[in-house]
Amino acid sequence: MKTKKSARIKITGTGMYVPEKVLTNKDLEKMVDTSDEWITTRSGIKERHITAPDETTADMAVIAGKRAVEDAGLTVKDIDLILVATSTPDTIFPSTATWVQKGLNADYAPAFDLSAGCTGFLYGMIVSEGLLLSGSAARVLLIGTECLSKITNWKDRNTCVLFGDGAAAAVLEKSGDESGMLSSYWKADGNLGELLILPGGGVLNPASHKTVDEGLHYLRMKGNEVFKHAVKRMGEAALMALKKAGIKREDIDYLIPHQANIRIIQATGRRLKLPEEKVFSNIHKYGNMSVATIPIGLHELKEEGKLKKGADIVMVAFGAGFTWAAVVYKW
Ligand code: ACO
Repeated sequence: MKTKKSARIKITGTGMYVPEKVLTNKDLEKMVDTSDEWITTRSGIKERHITAPDETTADMAVIAGKRAVEDAGLTVKDIDLILVATSTPDTIFPSTATWVQKGLNADYAPAFDLSAGCTGFLYGMIVSEGLLLSGSAARVLLIGTECLSKITNWKDRNTCVLFGDGAAAAVLEKSGDESGMLSSYWKADGNLGELLILPGGGVLNPASHKTVDEGLHYLRMKGNEVFKHAVKRMGEAALMALKKAGIKREDIDYLIPHQANIRIIQATGRRLKLPEEKVFSNIHKYGNMSVATIPIGLHELKEEGKLKKGADIVMVAFGAGFTWAAVVYKW
């Protein structure tokens, strides 16, 4: 969807949260048959943050959400929609968004979850754009929050070294100037759903002793298959969104790709022919936090003062579903 110059949405505040506990590759060497060297060269990850046993997806979202609202110079009472993108909900129902609404003490603001894997934050921006421009909401609190450590099989070296927990939020409002979301591109392919899946606990495989014995409550991933699709789709989505925005690759100030693997990040940068310094990465310190990686990247770049007014940013993601999307944004 391409929006007219006069009708655009923008980010007016951001906030993030990662749990206190840090798990390093050295720690993982003591847990499974792996090495710091393998994890670093194959994924770029050095450490990740892990929630405390009683800390949840909603808990992280509430902290990140409060920080974003404060950053926007607002109070929670000003928010009239809470949209939570997550694949690790606290409960199947009610939604994590309603737990977050309770935690924020957000009066009667409507609240719902959006499930689009790692692409959830970008899907959330696109959905918010529609709601803000149609007048259904004036200020959306969009939160990407993920607690992957609690659906990870810590005995499976193929997956447990890759993920981390975290949350980040953005307040979205109508833009009154040239800044904001310029264009977007979003797609899905349900035929490939089994390549990255949490098979148990839903209606397909209701929780039972058998599902637990078989480990169906843990995330499963065919890593090298996911890798190939991610590289292809992220490059394609970024180029399509740029075309819609009428922006040339060389004019991009920052690419903020989903942080799943440094090799996917670098391949996407190469596809766009971008120099390394324009391709954002923080995967070494957080691992793959799924839907939280893009808003955390955005928040960190902003806090470091790297997003100058007028900067053109491309955000691009790929995730379970499969889903993929890109958003071009003028800061
Ligand atoms: N330590 C040591 N060896 C390991 C480990 C480990 N932690 N994990 C796997 N290996 C072994 C494998 O068993 C295999 O050994 P074998 O050849 O004897 O069978 C060997 O390393 C190579 O395994 P591959 O899976 O082929 O390794 P690859 O280079 O593909 O890297 C990785 C694996 C890192 C998972 C990569 O495929 C990847 O990052 N894929 C994409 C993952 C991704 O992006 N997921 C998320 C996207 S959506 C989302 O974010 C939720």
